[in-house]
Amino acid sequence: MSPRPLYQTLANQITEMVSQNVLRAGMRAPSVRTFATQNEVSMTTVLQAYRLLEDKGVLKARPKSGFYVTSRTPDTRKLPAESRPPQQATPVVIGNGVTEILTHAANPAYAPLGCAIPSVGLLAADKLDRHLARCARTLGRSYNVYTEPLGDADLRQAISERALRIGHTVPPDNIIITNGCTEALSVALCATTRPGDTVVIESPTYFGLLQILEARGLRVLELPTDPTHGIDVTALEKALKKSRVAACLFSSSFNNPLGCSMSDTAKIEILRLLRQHQVPLIEDDIYGDIYFGDDRPQPFSSLDRDADVILCSSFSKTIAPGYRIGWIASNTRRDALQIAKFSTSLCGPALTQKAMADFLGSGGYDNHLRRIRRTFFDNIGRMRFTVDRSFPVETRITSPNGGFVLWIEMPDSFDCSKLFQRAMQERICFAPGHLFTAASRYRNCLRLSCGHEWDYRVERSVERLGELAYELMADTKY
Ligand SMILES: Cc1ncc(COP(=O)(O)O)c(C=O)c1O
Repeated sequence: MSPRPLYQTLANQITEMVSQNVLRAGMRAPSVRTFATQNEVSMTTVLQAYRLLEDKGVLKARPKSGFYVTSRTPDTRKLPAESRPPQQATPVVIGNGVTEILTHAANPAYAPLGCAIPSVGLLAADKLDRHLARCARTLGRSYNVYTEPLGDADLRQAISERALRIGHTVPPDNIIITNGCTEALSVALCATTRPGDTVVIESPTYFGLLQILEARGLRVLELPTDPTHGIDVTALEKALKKSRVAACLFSSSFNNPLGCSMSDTAKIEILRLLRQHQVPLIEDDIYGDIYFGDDRPQPFSSLDRDADVILCSSFSKTIAPGYRIGWIASNTRRDALQIAKFSTSLCGPALTQKAMADFLGSGGYDNHLRRIRRTFFDNIGRMRFTVDRSFPVETRITSPNGGFVLWIEMPDSFDCSKLFQRAMQERICFAPGHLFTAASRYRNCLRLSCGHEWDYRVERSVERLGELAYELMADTKY
C-alpha cells in the first residue's frame, strides 16, 4: 500500500483538532507558516492540506486573514424538518409572551439568548454618536423641526445609492423613513390590507410581525417553510388559487428564526404568481446585509423593478437599534404608503436621521459590516458547536448562511415552555418556539440569539440549557 500523502496527514490532524474541540467553529486555523514550521514541511504542503479541507467544507479562507473553521463542522446534527402548518387562514393570538421576553432582554441580569438584538459593543454605536454630536453642534437648532414628508433627503439618497449596488433601482423619492422596520411593516400592512383580510407568511416567522398582524385584526395563512430554502412555492400557488389573499409578507434573506433564504429562481416564480393574482408583496429585508457567503442575496425588488413590492428594512441589526431608523422602498405604492406613514407617526426624529446620513456618507459602514458579519458567523459557529455537545442527541439545529439566530428543534413531545420556566429561574433567557406562529405550533422548538460577544457566560448558559433539557426529558420520560 502506498503511504498516505503528507498533505492528507496534515489535513487529518486539523480534522482531529476540530472533532476534539481544540479548534472550534469560527476559530482561525494555525497560520500556514506556523503549521509548516511545527510539522517541518513546506508551506505549499500545508496550503495543499488547507485547500483539501476547504473543499470538504471544514475550513474557509478569508482574504488577507487566513483559514477559519466553518460553522458547518461538525455537521453531525440534522436540520429541523420543513414546517407543516395547517393550510387555512387563522386569526393571530399571541398574548403577552413576547412582552416578557422583551422585558428580560433589556435586563442585563439575564443571559442574552432571547432577543435578536446585537450587543451594543458589536455595533457602530460610538461612531454614530460622534456623528450625532457633530450634527447637533453644526446644525444649531435647525434640526428641531419636522423632517420633510418622506424623511431626511440625504438619508434617503444614501439608502437609494446602497440599494442600487444590489440591483434595486429605487429613487430617493420612493423611499420613506420610518421608526424602525416595525413601523415600516405596520405602514406597509396599513396601505395594503383591511382588518379581517388574509396575509400569507412564512412559518415559523418573527413574533413582532405576528403582533403587528394581530393588532391590525388580520388573519394569516402560514406556508410550509424549509430551514434552508424557505417557503414551499407550490403551497403558495395553491393558497393564491384557493383564497383571497390581500398581501404576502416574506423575508427572503435569512428569515427570523430559521435563517433560510430563497433562491433567485424561487423568488422569480413567486413574483410571477403574485403578479398573476395581483397580490402585493411586503419584503422584510432587515437581515439582508448580514450574509456569510461572498455576495449579498438580492431582495425581490432587485429582480423586477416594476413588481408590486414594498421593501421594509432598518439599521437596527447592523448599526443602532436605539436610533429607530428604518425605511420603506416601493416603486409602486409610494402615495398610499406616505399617507399611511403620516397617519401613524407623521415623521421620525430629525437629528438621528441627519446623524445616520452623515455616518453613511463617511464611508465607514462597509468596513463595519464586514466586521460584524465575521463576528456573527463566528458566533453562529460557536453556538452550534456548544448546542451540539450539550443538547440531547435528538436535537436538530439550523445552519444559516446569514443573520444571527439559530432555531433548535427538540423531539415532538418536548415542551419548551417548561424549559423556559426553568431557564428563567436561572436567569437564562431564550425565545420559546410557540411565539413564532399563530397556529399553536413549535412547542418543541426554541430560538437562540447569537448577537452578543461570545464569552464564558454565553457559552455556559447554552451548556446549562442543554443540561436542563436532559433533566426535563428524564423527568417526563420522553
Ligand atoms: C425579521 C425582523 N423584522 C423586523 C424587526 C424589527 O426591527 P426594528 O427594530 O428596526 O423595528 C426584527 C427585530 O428583531 C426582525 O427580526
